Amino acid sequence: WGKTGHRVTGEIAEKYLSKNAKKAIESLLNGESLAFVSTYGDEIKSDDAYRKYGPWHYVNFPFDSAYETHPKSDRGDIIVAINTCIKVLKSKTESNENKAFHLRLLVHFIGDLHQPLHIGLAEDKGGNDFQVRWFNEGTNLHTVWDTKMIEHYNMSYKELASNTRKLSKQELSTIKSGSVLDWMNESRAICKDVYENTEVGEKLGYRYMHDYFTTVRSQLQKGGIRLATILNEIFE
Ligand code: ADE
Ligand code: ZN
Ligand code: ZN
Repeated sequence: WGKTGHRVTGEIAEKYLSKNAKKAIESLLNGESLAFVSTYGDEIKSDDAYRKYGPWHYVNFPFDSAYETHPKSDRGDIIVAINTCIKVLKSKTESNENKAFHLRLLVHFIGDLHQPLHIGLAEDKGGNDFQVRWFNEGTNLHTVWDTKMIEHYNMSYKELASNTRKLSKQELSTIKSGSVLDWMNESRAICKDVYENTEVGEKLGYRYMHDYFTTVRSQLQKGGIRLATILNEIFE
């Protein structure tokens, strides 16, 4: 996601944190909110010292393949990234500084896990090389999903985070359940649907918002709830 998507994820997660998790996070982040630190993963991208974290934002594999069987890159991917962050945060020996670093990254990567194009195809770099038109401007499919639809809605991250769909107890518990891999596979299924319904060079606009913005909002809501679920489990 872009800045707004990541902040919405962090802001929603705050509402679902347990007392213990809140306390531990406040101490690690010196009072900075999850929304505030959610964009850190992108802020370090331009710094050569953090180059190795580039491939941690996504995973690409063919639609007719599965994550478990595709040849793993030794540079890591979003699943390796999330598991590494969880491991550091659960460790009894890592420094608080290193834990704070990996907490910032975890908030970011759980957001990206819910952006369907981050569970993408290598041949077009997750839609970055898939040119489309957004209203009257040239862009690519990845950017439409990271930012264009969210920006078109023209709401602040706070507004988006407080205008989420009301969930029944059953719906909430379904969202919380499952593993990181299950959540990745949900994103993958959406990504597949997107590719079946979008053509290179297509002009996207109101129709696309109508078809997919509900999905964007639902993915942001799930990302926030699941981030809190992971953090509550880490800081039991
Ligand atoms: N670069 C290459 N593949 C990517 C993806 N799926 N998402 C974001 N950036 C990428
Ligand atoms: Zn992206
Ligand atoms: Zn990212």
